[in-house]
Amino acid sequence: MRHLMGPLDFTAEELDKLFDLANDIEHNMAKYAHACDGKKLATCFYEPSTRTRLSFESAMLNLGGSVIGFSDAGSSSASKGESVSDTIRVISCFADICAMRHPKEGAPMVAASKSSIPVINAGDGGHQHPTQTLTDLLTIRSLKGKIENFTVGLCGDLKFGRTVHSLIHALMRYPDIHFIFISPEELKVPDYLTDMLKEKNIPYEEVIRLEEIMPSLDFLYMTRVQKERFFNEEDYVRLKDFYILDKPKMDLAKSDMLVLHPLPRVNEISVEIDDDPRAAYFKQVQYGVYVRMALILTLLEIQV
Ligand code: CP
Repeated sequence: MRHLMGPLDFTAEELDKLFDLANDIEHNMAKYAHACDGKKLATCFYEPSTRTRLSFESAMLNLGGSVIGFSDAGSSSASKGESVSDTIRVISCFADICAMRHPKEGAPMVAASKSSIPVINAGDGGHQHPTQTLTDLLTIRSLKGKIENFTVGLCGDLKFGRTVHSLIHALMRYPDIHFIFISPEELKVPDYLTDMLKEKNIPYEEVIRLEEIMPSLDFLYMTRVQKERFFNEEDYVRLKDFYILDKPKMDLAKSDMLVLHPLPRVNEISVEIDDDPRAAYFKQVQYGVYVRMALILTLLEIQV
């Protein structure tokens, strides 16, 4: 039995197979409509979510399975003090696979260690969000035909943004990726990640101004300032609108640069960009369903 806790749990070859499967699902949806007949997915979300929870649920329904779960810790027995370890033992009696989001870093890993069904980390605190990374990589591969030889800008809250942390881990394995981290001083990418890049001799730059690097980017991965991870409101208010991607900045970019964003967006991308053909963030959401369908099939070892 396998779980998915982090973006490196699959080898690069396994990821290729997963993306091939997601690609086949995209083009032959009907073929998979009964692949999970009789199977149940539990979504245990101790933190708010729109995309991740609903795309998991949509993925399982597309596969013919069904869904149980909770979307708020307050409506589960966690509010009475039940531990994650006990909860997953209980969920293991009800479902075949579980996607868990939790504000505490490592909570899905604790669950996996006590579980008799596959557990998927659907986001743990400011740590990792591996299925968002699968979504991001599939989007890049589908829209560009490869995952290599790119200059990738990651912009915004690089300190608390778990999607950024997972994506950096994953992209490190692909050839000729040049990272440019764009953030205010207070929201810089954690040292453990830049240390890993140095160890692996992977080039990166850290800059504050978005405008100066726009012309060199193949991708721009925008992120929201993570209000829920700040210790005080004053810092959040000061930093929340530090970057706003608007038309004048897009005018500086390559004609085939793509803008990605894990969403939700607050103010960091102006809505005037949404109709720009380079804005890929809503397509990205759709790829999230295909890749989660592929992931469920892979972890349940179902072949179609
Ligand atoms: N990208 C993402 O994790 O979105 P949600 O918080 O809505 O699930």
